[in-house]
Amino acid sequence: MCGIVGYVGKQNAVSIILEGLKRLEYRGYDSAGVCVQQGRRLDVAKKAGRVENLAKVAAKHRFTATTGIGHTRWATHGGVTDANAHPHVSSDGKFALIHNGVIENYAQMKTFLAGKGFAFQSETDTEVLCNLIAYHYAKEPARAKGRNRFLESVRKTLRHVEGTYGIAVLCTDFPGEIVGARKASPLILGVGDGEYILASDASALVSRTQNVVYLKDGELAHLTPKGFSLSTLDQADVSPVVDRITWSIADSELGSHAHFMEKEIFEQPAALENAMRGRFSADGSTAQFGGLNISAGEFREMERFMFCACGTAWHACLVTEHLIERFARVPVEVDYASEFRYRNSPLDPRTLFFVMSQSGETIDTLAALREAKRKGYRVMAVNNVVGSSIAREADGGIYQHAGPEVGVASTKAFTSQLLIGAMIALYVARMRDMSFSDGVEYVNALKGAPDLVRQMLKQAPRIKAIAKRYAHYHDMLFLGRLSLFPLALEGALKLKEISYLHAEGYPAAEMKHGPIALISEKCPSVFFAPKGEIFSKIVSSMQEIKARKGPIIAIATAGAELPPGLADDVILMPECHEAVLPIIASIPVQLLSYYIALERGCDVDKPRNLAKSVTVE
Ligand code: AGP
Repeated sequence: MCGIVGYVGKQNAVSIILEGLKRLEYRGYDSAGVCVQQGRRLDVAKKAGRVENLAKVAAKHRFTATTGIGHTRWATHGGVTDANAHPHVSSDGKFALIHNGVIENYAQMKTFLAGKGFAFQSETDTEVLCNLIAYHYAKEPARAKGRNRFLESVRKTLRHVEGTYGIAVLCTDFPGEIVGARKASPLILGVGDGEYILASDASALVSRTQNVVYLKDGELAHLTPKGFSLSTLDQADVSPVVDRITWSIADSELGSHAHFMEKEIFEQPAALENAMRGRFSADGSTAQFGGLNISAGEFREMERFMFCACGTAWHACLVTEHLIERFARVPVEVDYASEFRYRNSPLDPRTLFFVMSQSGETIDTLAALREAKRKGYRVMAVNNVVGSSIAREADGGIYQHAGPEVGVASTKAFTSQLLIGAMIALYVARMRDMSFSDGVEYVNALKGAPDLVRQMLKQAPRIKAIAKRYAHYHDMLFLGRLSLFPLALEGALKLKEISYLHAEGYPAAEMKHGPIALISEKCPSVFFAPKGEIFSKIVSSMQEIKARKGPIIAIATAGAELPPGLADDVILMPECHEAVLPIIASIPVQLLSYYIALERGCDVDKPRNLAKSVTVE
C-alpha cells in the first residue's frame, strides 16, 4: 500500500517522479504529492485524488529541481484529504518525508513531541515520524561527528519506531541528498546513469534503469549526486548487490487494451507457457523445479503440506490442496496467512510449508512465512515478483514468470498459480503412486492448457453480451464443487472487488443450508457444471434454484447434458483434464466480472478502497 519514489540526478525530478507515481498508483490512489529540493528550500505540492490531479497542480509550480520525493497514498491514519497527503514536512521546515507502512507507536511519540513544542498539520503517523527526525537532528548534532548528520538522525529515529516503513527523506541542510530506509515495506534502489531512484517497486524506475539494489529490512540507503551507500540501523556498512531486472517498460504498458485487467486476462496463454517453460522432466512424465533448494528425497519424506496466502492467492492454494490430495494422496492444510500468523496451530514436523503471493510483499503472507521459519519449518514460495521480500526470505521457491501484473484484480497471476499448484501436485504424485503413463497424460494436459485458454478467450464477445444482462443485479451467487468450489470463491471476489456488486461463493450443495433463502428472481447464480461424477448433483442444485425463480448462468463442459431451459445462459468449456479444469474455468468468471464492472461504469484497474499489494496489516 502506498507507492513511493525518490530521485537524485541531473534531470527534472518532478517529471520522473510523476511518471513513477503513475506506475505505482495501483498501490493506492487516495492522494498524491511531491516535494522537491531547490537549494535549501523544500517545495511541496500535494492533492487528494489521483496522480493526474497532482500533475495538474505540479505543472503550475514549474518545478525544475533535480532532487525530489513523491508519494501515492492508500489511507491508513487519517482521512483522504490534502492535509493528510504525503510528503509531510517537519514543523521546523527542515525535513520532508514520504512513507509506506504503519508507525504503531505514533500516538505516544506524538504526545512526546507535542510536549516539546512540535505542531502537527495532519492526522497521520507519517508526520510524527518526520518530526521525530527533526527532533533528533536538532538535539544531537555532536553525536554525528564524522558521519552524515542527516543520515544519523534518520537512523536514530528509526531505532525508536515500532511498525513498518519504506521511507524517503529530504533535508534542507543537505541539498541533493535523500535518505531512504525500509522495514517490512518494500524499497528498491535503481542505479542509473548519474542518477539514483528509490521506489516501492521496479515498475516506477524500469524506464530509466534495469539495475537495481533490493534493500533488506533494517537497511538505510543514502543517495547523493556522487553515489550511494547502504548501512544498517546499527551503523554497519553494507556492500550493495546490484541485480538486473529481466523485464522492460513495454511489459507494463497498456498497449492497445482499455485496461490492465483486460490486457492481463488476454496475456494468460503466454503467462501459462512461461510458468511451464523448462519445468518438465526429459521423459515428459513429471514436473521439475530449479529453485526449491530441497532434494527430491527430502521432498519425498514430507508427510503433509501447509499453504498460506491471502485473497486470490488463497483461492489458488485451495485448488492446489484439492489436486495434491486427489493425485498424490498427501494431506494438505490451507490457511489464511493473516490467521496463521496469530493462530499458533500445531504442525507436524514433517510438514513442508508453502506461501503463495503474486507481489511477494503482502505483509500477512510475509509474516506467516517468518512465523513458519521461526518454528523451524522450511518455507517455499510461489511468487511472481523476482527479488520480492517473500522471494528473498523463503528457503526456496518457484517463480511464476507471469510478467508484471498491474490491475488490482489478479487474473494472470491467479491462473499461473493454479498451474504451478497443479505441477506441484504432479511432482508429489509421481514420487508416490502415480504411474508413468498417467504422469505423461497429466503433463500433456498441462502443456495443452494455453490453447484451451485461447479457445475460452474467443468467447469474450458472447460473455460481454451475457454480462450486460446481469450488470443491473445487486446480488449474485457463485456455486461450484470440488476443485471448482475455490473458483466460486474467486468469481465472487472478482465481482465484488471491481464491480461493487455483492457476491458470495459457496459449495453448490451447501446452498440448502442457508444461502438458498437469498434466491429469488432478483438474485442470479453462476454455476460451475463440469462433466464428471457429480454433474448430476450439480444439476439437482440448479433445479432447486430454478424452482425458486433464480436466474442461472451455467459454466458447463461442452457436451454435458444440461436439461433444456434449466440455465438462462450457458458458457461452454472444452473437455479437459482435472488438473487443467480450474484454469479453464477461471476465464469466464474473469471476463464476466470485467464486463459487468465496465457496464456499471467502474474503474476496473483501480477499484475503490483497494490497493494491489497489501503491505499493512
Ligand atoms: C486479487 O484480485 C486481490 N486484489 C487480492 O485478493 C490479492 O490476491 C491478495 O491481496 C494477495 O496478493 P498477493 O498475491 O500479492 O500476495
